[in-house]
Amino acid sequence: MLNGKHIILGITGGIAAYKSALLVRLLIKRGAEVQVVMTPSAKEFITPVTLSALTGKPVVSEFFTANTGEWHSHVDLGLWADAMVIAPATACTIGKMANGVADNMLVTTYLSAKAPVFVAPAMDLDMMAHPSTTRNLELLRSYGNHVIEPASGELASHLVGRGRMEEPENIVRVLDDYFASSSRLAGKKVLITAGPTYERIDPVRFIGNFSTGKMGYALADAAARAGAEVTVVSGPVSVRPKESSVKVIPVESACQMADRCMEIFPQTDIAIMCAAVADYAPAEQLDKKLKRGNCETMTLELRRNPDIAAMLGKNKRDGQILVGFALETDNEEFNACRKMESKNLDLIVLNSLAVPGAGFATDTNAVSVFFADGRRTDIPLMSKADVAGKIISLL
Ligand code: CTP
Repeated sequence: MLNGKHIILGITGGIAAYKSALLVRLLIKRGAEVQVVMTPSAKEFITPVTLSALTGKPVVSEFFTANTGEWHSHVDLGLWADAMVIAPATACTIGKMANGVADNMLVTTYLSAKAPVFVAPAMDLDMMAHPSTTRNLELLRSYGNHVIEPASGELASHLVGRGRMEEPENIVRVLDDYFASSSRLAGKKVLITAGPTYERIDPVRFIGNFSTGKMGYALADAAARAGAEVTVVSGPVSVRPKESSVKVIPVESACQMADRCMEIFPQTDIAIMCAAVADYAPAEQLDKKLKRGNCETMTLELRRNPDIAAMLGKNKRDGQILVGFALETDNEEFNACRKMESKNLDLIVLNSLAVPGAGFATDTNAVSVFFADGRRTDIPLMSKADVAGKIISLL
């Protein structure tokens, strides 16, 4: 998958920089073109000559070459790259990347990079465990960067713990997997519903639910990373897609969501119904605020909302894939499979409320996927982004 890919390898000043030479060799052996960008302190650990000899390209480290004045454009480099890998990434560089401290060529290139960025931290165990490192890595993840988790083992300090840069072979595998999955859904159009729906009672009140849209948006990002053209029809949420190519159509009510989905579905290859759609809405919407009055109880008449998944299921043509979600509290598997059949879905993802950390408003999830042909796959507790990646790879 790396053949012909343009890779920027950012090297920072840590002892693991000596492994960069091997990383370059492995990338080049797989047909990649590698441009090394080093921080000034990285040169204390490995020489630019070693790296330029291996890559066949001058190493970039300063903004310009001192004796000729030749300017090195971080913008052009950022545009050239299919991926940027920072390995090893020290705590200092991770902090600069997280906070936009663009005081060297590596960080300016990072800020200009349009391609996916992979960060392989390497540092002493206490630095790795420090809350500032944890926070900075969390920030990088929130920007959509991929953190290649460090391994545990003996460190340069002779202490044993977490902080060893992942081995070059494994870094290459991560890149290989990334490029393999990034073409899986190339040319496919994916429609995803996400978030809750709000059903208006009057100008200031609505019936809604606790869905945050996190799972739906994680699926949208994963599908976009797999090369799909993604449209999210989204109820009111504060979450945003990380992938800029994801198109979001905001809606409020189930009826609006149904209308948008019916418009888009005929041009769709895969539809994933992840929204928590209100099953009922107030039978009438009041123009003026409903007053409290004197009654101890009040009755609100509700009417049934359209079942969007079932509507798409009725209109599904050969080759289209329709995916549903189910959140059940009892008879989970039976109820989920019955929904799959009644709505004409191809697979259904069962959210487990029994697993702590799974379900609404968490960053993690654990699900079971049931296929119409009887197969079943369990995805254990992991981040919603990883669950989304697994679901997309099943498609
Ligand atoms: N769904 C939908 N439109 C609705 C209700 C549900 O598109 N009006 C979709 C959901 O997005 C989900 C699947 O149908 O993919 C199952 O949703 P769920 O709420 O679990 O099922 P319901 O059919 O509403 O059944 P119940 O609430 O009685 O369990």
